[in-house]
Amino acid sequence: MSRLVVTGGRPLRGRLRVPGDKSISHRALLLAALAEGTSVVRGLSDGDDVARTRSAIEALGATVEGERVTGGRSRLHEAADVIDVGNSGTTMRLLAGVVAGLDGLSVLTGDASIRRRPMGRVVEPLRSMGAEVDGRDGGRLAPLAVRGRELKGIDYELPAPSAQVKGAVLLAGLAAAGETVVRERVRTRAHTEEMLAMAGADLAVGDGGLTTRVRASELRPFELDVPGDPSQAAFWVVAACLAPGSDVVIENVYLGPARAGFLDVLRRMGADVEVGPGGEVHARGGARLRATTVEAHEVPGLVDEVPVLAVAAALAEGVTRFEGAGELRVKESDRAGAIVSLLGGSYADGVLTIEGRAALDVPPLVPSGGDHRMAMTQAVAALTVDGPTAIEGWDSVATSYPGFEADLERLCRS
Ligand code: S3P
Repeated sequence: MSRLVVTGGRPLRGRLRVPGDKSISHRALLLAALAEGTSVVRGLSDGDDVARTRSAIEALGATVEGERVTGGRSRLHEAADVIDVGNSGTTMRLLAGVVAGLDGLSVLTGDASIRRRPMGRVVEPLRSMGAEVDGRDGGRLAPLAVRGRELKGIDYELPAPSAQVKGAVLLAGLAAAGETVVRERVRTRAHTEEMLAMAGADLAVGDGGLTTRVRASELRPFELDVPGDPSQAAFWVVAACLAPGSDVVIENVYLGPARAGFLDVLRRMGADVEVGPGGEVHARGGARLRATTVEAHEVPGLVDEVPVLAVAAALAEGVTRFEGAGELRVKESDRAGAIVSLLGGSYADGVLTIEGRAALDVPPLVPSGGDHRMAMTQAVAALTVDGPTAIEGWDSVATSYPGFEADLERLCRS
C-alpha cells in the first residue's frame, strides 16, 4: 500500500489552481454523451473518478477525443461489458439515471467501498419511474442491473439531501413521459440543474432552488470551461489558515450554490479568508480560530469539506458541533468514524462534536481507509505538527486529486 510522508511545521505560500470540479466534470461528460453532436469540455478533473465516467460513456457509444465529446441518443447503445465505476459514487448514481432511459441492459459495479454504499436511494425513485432495476439485497447494493424501459415522470421529494439522487432522477426525467419534479427540503449542489439549462433542457427551477421540474428533452451540444473544485481548494484554505506565516491564493474556484459553505464557516471561526473576482480564494495563516456550530441546513453545502473543517475545529478555541451530519457515515468510508479516530471528539445521532485544543496529537502512521478525502484531511492535520507523519493508502487520492503531493511540495517550498 502506498504511503505519503508529510512533514509539518512549515508555512504554505503561493498561487495555484486545483483540478477541475469533479461534480461538474461528471455531469459535463454525461450531458455531452446525451447531446446530439460534439461538445467541447475544457479543464475536466484529472482524477480516476471522472476517468470512470469517461470510460462509461465510451462503453455506451460516445466518443471522447481530447476536449471533444461526441454523443447523442441515436449513437448510444448497450455496453458490451459490465461498467466499473471504481470508487466513484457520483458515476454510479448519475449513470443509473441515464441508463434507465436507454435501450438495453447495463450492469454497474465498483470497488469494495461502492459495493457497501447505499444504492436504494436511486433505485427506489427510478423504479417508480418505470425502470427495471435490480441489485444485491433487493436493489439496495451494487452491482446494479438496469434494463432501459419507457419511463414516466414522477413528483419526488428527496428523503435525504443528495445531489446525486436529485441528479439521477432529473437525468432519467430527460427520457420520461410527462413532467419529472424533484423537491428538496435543503438545497444541495445545483450542477445538474445549471448544466441541464445550459444544454437546452426543458427545465424550470423554483422555490428558491428547492424544486426542479424537467420534461423529456433533446440536449444540444455545449462548450464549457470547468472551474476549479472548491472541495479540493478547501484543503489548502484550511492548511493555510492553520500554519502561521502562510499566504495562499487559489484561482478560478467554483463558488456557486451549495459549494462555498466552508468559506462561511471558516470566516465565522475567525479565519483570514477572502474571495476575489473570478473565484479567487485568498487564505492567510495566523488568526486565532474559535469554535462554531454548523447547523443541519448548512451541511449539504459543505458535506465534502466536513473532514478538513474538523481539523480547523480541533485547533479552535471551544467545542464545534456539526449537526445533521449523518450522511458522513455513507461516503467513501465512514467519515464520521474516521474523523473521530483522527481528532477525538464524538459522533452520535448525526452530531459530530470536536473539542478544540492547542496542538494536535497525530500518530506517526495514519490509515486513510482508502478514502481520498480522509487521506488529504490527514495530510492537512500532519502539516500542523512538527515532524513526519506517514499516511497509509495515499494512492486513494488519485480518485480526485492526483497532483496533490506536487502542489503540496510547491506550496511548502515557495
Ligand atoms: C456529489 C454529491 C455529494 C458529494 C459527492 C459529489 C455530486 O454526494 O458528497 O462528493 O456530484 O452530486 P451526495 O449527493 O450523495 O450527498
